[in-house]
Amino acid sequence: MFLYLAAGVCVLLILLVPRIRKFAAGGVCVSTARLDGKTVIITGANTGIGKETARDLAKRGARIIIACRDVIKGEIAAQEVIAETGNKQVIVRKLDLADSSSVKQFAEKILKEEQHLHILINNAGVMMCPYSKTVDGFEMQFGVNHLGHFLLTFLLLDLIKRSAPARIVNVSSLAHLFGRINFSDLQSEKNYDSGRAYCQSKLANVLFTRELARRLEETVIQHLLHSKLKIMKLQKDSGTQAASCWEFSGNRALKLDTAKTAEYTLAN
Ligand SMILES: NC(=O)c1ccc[n+]([C@@H]2O[C@H](COP(=O)([O-])OP(=O)(O)OC[C@H]3O[C@@H](n4cnc5c(N)ncnc54)[C@H](OP(=O)(O)O)[C@@H]3O)[C@@H](O)[C@H]2O)c1
Ligand SMILES: *[C@@H]1O[C@H](CO)[C@@H](O)[C@H](O)[C@H]1NC(C)=O
Ligand SMILES: *[C@@H]1O[C@H](CO)[C@@H](O)[C@H](O)[C@H]1NC(C)=O
Repeated sequence: MFLYLAAGVCVLLILLVPRIRKFAAGGVCVSTARLDGKTVIITGANTGIGKETARDLAKRGARIIIACRDVIKGEIAAQEVIAETGNKQVIVRKLDLADSSSVKQFAEKILKEEQHLHILINNAGVMMCPYSKTVDGFEMQFGVNHLGHFLLTFLLLDLIKRSAPARIVNVSSLAHLFGRINFSDLQSEKNYDSGRAYCQSKLANVLFTRELARRLEETVIQHLLHSKLKIMKLQKDSGTQAASCWEFSGNRALKLDTAKTAEYTLAN
């Protein structure tokens, strides 16, 4: 009896493995879209999902600005991406999202140097770190994941609008589902739980993306990306304009795609 049961469970698991893998990997984009002539900023692109994104978009011909707090790490990543893709248009600019003066300096430099900004990818993030504060005195996860990107987006918004069709992509997480915005202790000063603070910061990304999408309406298409699982498109596609989509393989990413991918990912 026990043997039958064990055998049954094994068979079931074997049958389910492809489905589980597919679920964990999210949608798959097969687009061959090119991004020649497009400028992209990716925060935290010296490693992880950000670097994978840089690699993919560089392959498609985009000019990539790696925005990171450690310029040396950024240069190493940039050289790697250049060597692998043959695209020399990969540059590094210093950005510390935990310091509003650094965010301002970064934005000023970008506004001076760049004629266009077609895609801003707010990817950098800290996750479940011990309690600490940003230079401006905010709880670190709320400060970097939400407030730093909030300021950055705000400072670059005119340039993005002028470059339309443009995209802003915020990388959130399914963790936002467990998030609560704790207005009685927004900065976790009374009580800090690293997991709760992370979820709160990721929920803040979602809320702001929604509101900004509402305010920008047709000008800028926004995407909310839930790493590992899905991209959620918050705006109607403006017809012929390309939409972006990321593919996750394992827990690292990504491929940019064109039109219909949002529906595609949602449908899949
Ligand atoms: N990996 C997952 O399973 C997962 C799941 C859901 C959501 N996400 C989201 O995906 C995004 C990227 O995650 P990841 O897994 O690629 O993380 P990661 O490998 O830890 O990379 C995070 C990046 O953010 C940068 N960063 C941290 N603090 C910063 C600051 N103050 N200023 C500027 N950059 C800063 C890091 O720079 P340093 O290298 O200098 O530290 C690094 O480049 C995050 O928003 C995360 O919430 C990830
Ligand atoms: C992205 O998230 C930041 C921080 O939560 C928010 O301020 C900004 O408005 C969002 N941007 C977009 C384009 O949704
Ligand atoms: C909000 O913060 C207060 C004060 O630290 C705490 O007592 C409460 O449990 C928190 N609520 C949530 C939902 O995290």
